[in-house]
Amino acid sequence: MGQNDNIEVDPTLLEADGSDYASSGYDTSTASLSSSVNEYIFENGRRYHAYYGMEKNLMPTDEKEQDRMDLHHEIILLLLGGELHKAPINPNPHKILDVGTGTGIWAIDMADRYPSAEVIGVDLSPIQPRWVPPNCNFEVDDAELEWTYPSCNFDFIHFRNVAQGITKWPQVLSEAFRCMKPGAFIELSESGAQLYSDDESLPPSNPARQWGERMTDAMAASGRLAPVKGSLSSRLEAAGFVDVREFQLKQPFGPWAKSQDLKKLGVMLLLQGEQGFHSYGMLAFVKLLGMDPAVADKLCKDAIMATKNKHTHAYAVHYVAYGRRPEE
Ligand SMILES: C[S@@+](CC[C@H](N)C(=O)[O-])C[C@H]1O[C@@H](n2cnc3c(N)ncnc32)[C@H](O)[C@@H]1O
Repeated sequence: MGQNDNIEVDPTLLEADGSDYASSGYDTSTASLSSSVNEYIFENGRRYHAYYGMEKNLMPTDEKEQDRMDLHHEIILLLLGGELHKAPINPNPHKILDVGTGTGIWAIDMADRYPSAEVIGVDLSPIQPRWVPPNCNFEVDDAELEWTYPSCNFDFIHFRNVAQGITKWPQVLSEAFRCMKPGAFIELSESGAQLYSDDESLPPSNPARQWGERMTDAMAASGRLAPVKGSLSSRLEAAGFVDVREFQLKQPFGPWAKSQDLKKLGVMLLLQGEQGFHSYGMLAFVKLLGMDPAVADKLCKDAIMATKNKHTHAYAVHYVAYGRRPEE
């Protein structure tokens, strides 16, 4: 399927019982608390990391969120045809950086995929596992501060789904540019906040669509704009990168697509959404839009239910853009 083609709907979808997909029951039990409990803030029944302040990262970092991030990693792998990136990087890289690494799952997979490379994953929160490949290391830092890496150091720098934590993109990309070797690649990979449909099955009153609109408003209010078509590539070009390319990949919510690959993705996205609508939405709606927590919670729950309706053929778009630091 071309990246802008409409997704064909499975005509047998409504033959099975019920008009909603069943719930997965994916609601992991409450986390066991580590001895470093004082480093966390609890709000909306979720655990947020406190070291850099909750306003810095508006998403929880608890076990439910870590499971969701790992599931989204698998979804994006499928979207990219099993590849970890789109950029045509040097097949024998020496240094790779993953900014906002989360659970470190991408960095770990990259270390396995490229044994020649030292892979560094950096994040505000120390939530990465200890048992990792020997060529993979994790650091705690804020990407919006001055980078301590040497100039002309990395063969590849990767940012994925960090839009909620970065306001100063020009400064961050200027640091990335400085720390990349001439000719090295950078990749930005972000899921958009808006939900769409190709067949008008997502009217403006649909709670999933409203969730996407409020999320876009919240991100704009924080100065962390949600990605839209062309925004990642423009950001790279403005920072001086060349040979920039951008891809738009549709993420269907629910197994409504006719294609078996998209059907599988749809099931995974439905499952991911059971956590994702709250992880992304709660603090953003309450802190940035001043929404009452009960109203924010209801909007997230209604959005989940709306994506489970078999008559709704909703999808979000995942944007991937890469560029190259020019040769000297
Ligand atoms: C939605 S998660 C994505 C994790 C990972 N990139 C992935 O795709 O699986 C966003 C991560 O970015 C981190 N983050 C947000 N802002 C950051 C910043 N300014 N510096 C470093 N990490 C940041 C958060 O702590 C969180 O772990």
